[in-house]
Amino acid sequence: MRFAHGLNVIACAAIVNCGNRAGAVLPYLVLFTPKFFDMSGMSKTYDVCVLGATGAVGETMISILQERSFPVRNFYPLASSRSAGTKVEFRGRDYTVLDVAKFDFSQCQIGLFSAGASVSAEYAPKAAAAGCVVIDNTSQFRQDKDIPLVVPEVNPHAIAQYKQRGIIANPNCSTIQMVVALKPLYDEAGIERINVATYQSVSGTGKEAIEELSEQTRAIFTHRDVVHDVYPKQIAFNVLPHIDVFMDNGYTKEEMKMVWETQKIMEDDSILVNPTTARVPVFYGHSEAVHIETTHKLSAAQARALLEKAPGVVVMDERKPGGYPTPALEAAGKDPVYVGRIREDISHPRGLDMWVVSDNIRKGAALNSIQIAEILIEKYLS
Ligand code: A2P
Repeated sequence: MRFAHGLNVIACAAIVNCGNRAGAVLPYLVLFTPKFFDMSGMSKTYDVCVLGATGAVGETMISILQERSFPVRNFYPLASSRSAGTKVEFRGRDYTVLDVAKFDFSQCQIGLFSAGASVSAEYAPKAAAAGCVVIDNTSQFRQDKDIPLVVPEVNPHAIAQYKQRGIIANPNCSTIQMVVALKPLYDEAGIERINVATYQSVSGTGKEAIEELSEQTRAIFTHRDVVHDVYPKQIAFNVLPHIDVFMDNGYTKEEMKMVWETQKIMEDDSILVNPTTARVPVFYGHSEAVHIETTHKLSAAQARALLEKAPGVVVMDERKPGGYPTPALEAAGKDPVYVGRIREDISHPRGLDMWVVSDNIRKGAALNSIQIAEILIEKYLS
């Protein structure tokens, strides 16, 4: 591997540092906390379990429960037998991680699940049957008709359907940030078609992928062989146009999730969605180049004005170098969905282009789940 000039080396060193930091619980700074409800004055408290408590999303769920003063009475971190007995910290106290296979879910009213689809397939119905409402961050139930798929800024009313099976699905990370940005434009002008290309960070794959990017980067700098295990090819200094399995139609499942989930969350099956999803060597934060064709003409200025007042959105759109959001510098560790590069599509009379960036572990997973839990307790469980 050769570097063209010193700046590249500095950038790469920064990546290695970020990777090292990623191994620990992240000291997230929350500059924006778009709470739907103020939890601090709530008198009722809830027993909460986090399944996948030792994972990248589970750890962030625990820190966000704390940051947002979610009214937790008893707290139960759950994982597999592999990490049962280890400790996680919550509100200044160490809690022992419990083996989910031995856990009695009737002890909880709320379960935040993020341990993979097959784990949710086994334990979410058991938890729900025991009276624990599950907010599931996996793909297991997202397309089930009787399970709501919720982004609080877009379709909070759908949470009411949780009563059917006791499970609420949290959408895919790339879908969440896109629909948060598109909902206000859809409400104003309709959307006929979405063309989207994603640039997704490795943390979306989990802790092993964060370590793989870190280790490959170190290997390249120290002239060692690059080993890949999590991804099918080297991810360091590379881009892989492949996320999740390939489908018969040539799209990947991650791409089809963006199609199915967008239509379900927006409650409009007529929206055409054409995604290409790619994995990039970024630790935290997904970016998306989103191109939409609206039903009625919407100017860039109108779109900007709508997005400036949209819940959960921060517009960062100055037409100058650096006047746009990036994953590592703006989105990582923050709550909002950032939108920049808003412009009219020169190739289509009703086309708009934009650049949408958000922390995939926070708004794309843990934060969205906890925002759902906040609405659940405020409107349905209190
Ligand atoms: P464990 O530490 O016991 O493996 P990530 O997405 O960062 O890889 O994290 C995955 C999370 O899901 C971890 O907390 C992991 O726990 C948990 N997990 C994985 N498989 C299982 C399983 N079969 N049962 C329970 N938890 C699981």
